[in-house]
Amino acid sequence: MRERKKATCSLLLLLQVLVQLAVLGNLATPSFSANVTYDHRALLIAGKRRLLISGSIHYPRSTPEMWPDLIQKSKEGGLDVIETYVFWNIHEPVRNQYDFEGRKDLVKFVKTVAEAGLLVHLRIGPYVCAEWNYGGFPVWLHFLPGIKFRTDNEPFKAEMQRFTTKIVDMMKQENLYASKGGPIILSQIENEYGNVESAYGSGAKPYINWAASMAVSLDTGVPWVMCQQANAPDPIINTCNGFYCDQFTPNSNAKPKMWTENWSGWFLSFGGAVPYRPVEDLAFAVTRFFQLGGTFQNYYMYHGGTNFGRTTGGPFIATSYDYDAPIDEYGIVRQPKWGHLKDVHRAIKLCEEALVATDPTISSLGPNLEAAVYKTSSGLCAAFLANVGTQSDATVNFNGNSYHLPAWSVSILPDCKNVALNTAKVNAMAVVPSFTHQSLQVDSSDPVGLSWSWINEPIGISKDDAFVRPGLLEQIKTTADRSDYMWYSLSLDVEGGSQDILHVESLGHGLHVFVNQKPAGNKAGNSNNVKVAVDIPITLAHGKNTIDLLSLTVGLQNYGAFFDEAGAGVTGPVTLKRSANATTIDLSSQQWTYQIGLKGEDWGLSSGSSSQWTAQPSLPTKKPLTWYKTTFTAPGGNDPVAIDFTGMGKGEAWVNGQSIGRYWPTNISPSGGCTNSCNYRGSYGSNKCRKNCGNPSQQLYHVPRSWLQSSDNTLVLFEEIGGDPTQISLATRQVGSICSHVSDSHPLPVDMWDSDSKTGKRSDPDPVMILKCPTPDQTISSIKFASYGTPHGTCGSFRHRKCSSSKALPAVQKACIGSRSCSVGVSVATLGDPCKGVTKSLAVEASCA
Ligand code: GAL
Repeated sequence: MRERKKATCSLLLLLQVLVQLAVLGNLATPSFSANVTYDHRALLIAGKRRLLISGSIHYPRSTPEMWPDLIQKSKEGGLDVIETYVFWNIHEPVRNQYDFEGRKDLVKFVKTVAEAGLLVHLRIGPYVCAEWNYGGFPVWLHFLPGIKFRTDNEPFKAEMQRFTTKIVDMMKQENLYASKGGPIILSQIENEYGNVESAYGSGAKPYINWAASMAVSLDTGVPWVMCQQANAPDPIINTCNGFYCDQFTPNSNAKPKMWTENWSGWFLSFGGAVPYRPVEDLAFAVTRFFQLGGTFQNYYMYHGGTNFGRTTGGPFIATSYDYDAPIDEYGIVRQPKWGHLKDVHRAIKLCEEALVATDPTISSLGPNLEAAVYKTSSGLCAAFLANVGTQSDATVNFNGNSYHLPAWSVSILPDCKNVALNTAKVNAMAVVPSFTHQSLQVDSSDPVGLSWSWINEPIGISKDDAFVRPGLLEQIKTTADRSDYMWYSLSLDVEGGSQDILHVESLGHGLHVFVNQKPAGNKAGNSNNVKVAVDIPITLAHGKNTIDLLSLTVGLQNYGAFFDEAGAGVTGPVTLKRSANATTIDLSSQQWTYQIGLKGEDWGLSSGSSSQWTAQPSLPTKKPLTWYKTTFTAPGGNDPVAIDFTGMGKGEAWVNGQSIGRYWPTNISPSGGCTNSCNYRGSYGSNKCRKNCGNPSQQLYHVPRSWLQSSDNTLVLFEEIGGDPTQISLATRQVGSICSHVSDSHPLPVDMWDSDSKTGKRSDPDPVMILKCPTPDQTISSIKFASYGTPHGTCGSFRHRKCSSSKALPAVQKACIGSRSCSVGVSVATLGDPCKGVTKSLAVEASCA
């Protein structure tokens, strides 16, 4: 009897422990109500301080079909939290008419994050910046009487409060705040207002105070943050955005040190080269932040995605919002970035208990050398050793042991003794993506061009709702951004034909000039100077002439004080310099006829269903203002798909009625200033590391798989400048090679960290080179390169140097070929010693099949 009671007791105890474990394990997604609070060290979820790694994924920049996989890959990458902005203009395109369908299904997105067991930071803004059209504001907001954005202005505050409340209420209704058992642990109000505050004068402070108390009054049960807002009123936490935030301190000792935007790369502009940020520098920035007391860090972006439709801000933000993020535009992990950061997250998490328990003790280990130690009364100890110098590696002495610290790196010692990771020593493998092209043509025996049909967009005024006004109208006020396009049309009577110069000045962003229905010239601004000024030689006929100016926008401005007032379009002057009598006529205040948008837009051509399409073998090419249509079969398999717009000029494209965005492959980046192997040492800036100089800024445009059916897909284009659609091809994204490069001085993979705190020892002393094919159905088919010694180069371009062991290739082949993954110890014992006394490394490039 007693025995049985004892057994029941232990069973109960076990059950209790299991329940407790389940609750703890569930902390990530509080399926129970967990109040979220904060103190000087960290956010507290259900009373427990947490060290949180977060990453931005903006729901409308991918599709609901992609969300679960993106979120799963984020989780595997070591994220606890997914951050997203809320994009007002897609949710309320018309005042009081809301849209939360498809890619705009915010509730579904938040729930998808919760299902994966992750938390959410919801940045409502509702001004968001984000390289998003008009910074996220609906353009109709501009037209409300008496409104002034982002200042102490009643009409604006009323609208901001209405939308913010709407979103908070939606989240409450679905119990999505952690305080009600949901995943949302944090919300943001406004966005980087501190950066522009001074421009708003006396209206600024009352506005920020109002925004803070308005947000707090919504009673979400979770804290609010304001980023880049040094004067954020209590209880709002002011947080840091930037490439580095280790030196940041919040405005009160009662608030934790939080980093809401760690820019993992940078955004691409049409006309610019492709920005990237080396992972060694990103890992350094992250680790420095945790070294110096940070406890919440968010990657902006973790998956950047695509600016579909006309959602890009700007002007001139490209359609791709890849951002060099750890998950690429297509949803594939970017290696070694994703993998190295995953290792960094693991190593930092090994320190979590010590880290959240106390402040670090900082000491100098020499010039540019710094140690931070987190030591608790309960005997926990974690240390970070940093070399912030940009030139030389160093060997430092810490607690009686010696440590090698490459320049611009931090080592993480979760037990204050053994190195779990150094930010500059990348164990993660690299992957080189490759694109396989195939023709759009369904049947390659089709005569080229036969499968295309087209419609001409009329030059000049063609719509019934055109109107006449004296003088030149600002474009955004006139179109309310209903279209990128607006026609300015003038009919001109002249005495005697002559060669003249037409001078046009525009606030931007692009301009096509037609004289008497013929293209006369065009010009676009760029992200440094959005304005356009042209002098175009034209020939006028005696009598009546027409001048048609097609003005266009490429994403409305999203950043800066009063960004909403920038304006666009031909605001003049427009003059005609007559060669005959050497006079200049100012045409600016003439009676201009205006047309908002294109005829083809009214006809709904983007769906492809109109009956007006012409199909004849004489497909027009190099012809401005042409709509094109074809059908195509989707590439087989599951690899992500892109359209390569080589051959086309500029325009917008739709697949099965869904806009895949603006394309502009003729906008070429400058020929200089790029490097493929940027030095990660030293402060990063958005212009520091660029690639793809002298090429189209963007040539490939993502078509989400879920928008495709297996065959009979409709592709519609509106081409502005003129192009040859038969050159368009499909591309699928694949893995080219996988590579690894590990030196004798690398720490062991962090996965092998031996958590046995008694010994604090690593299970194996040698570093390990690990390769793994990205998908389970693949195995390593060949070793393209293997060298142990002092090999040179990067994945895809490794080269042997004098010191190279002949044992490396057979050893790697033996360990790897035929398996999905393999590991090889990086040591002279396995690989031989081709040059004694020299630090050696093993570099491998392999193919998977
Ligand atoms: C920040 C802003 C973000 C984004 C970023 C650049 O200043 O808060 O929304 O625009 O810059 O990608």
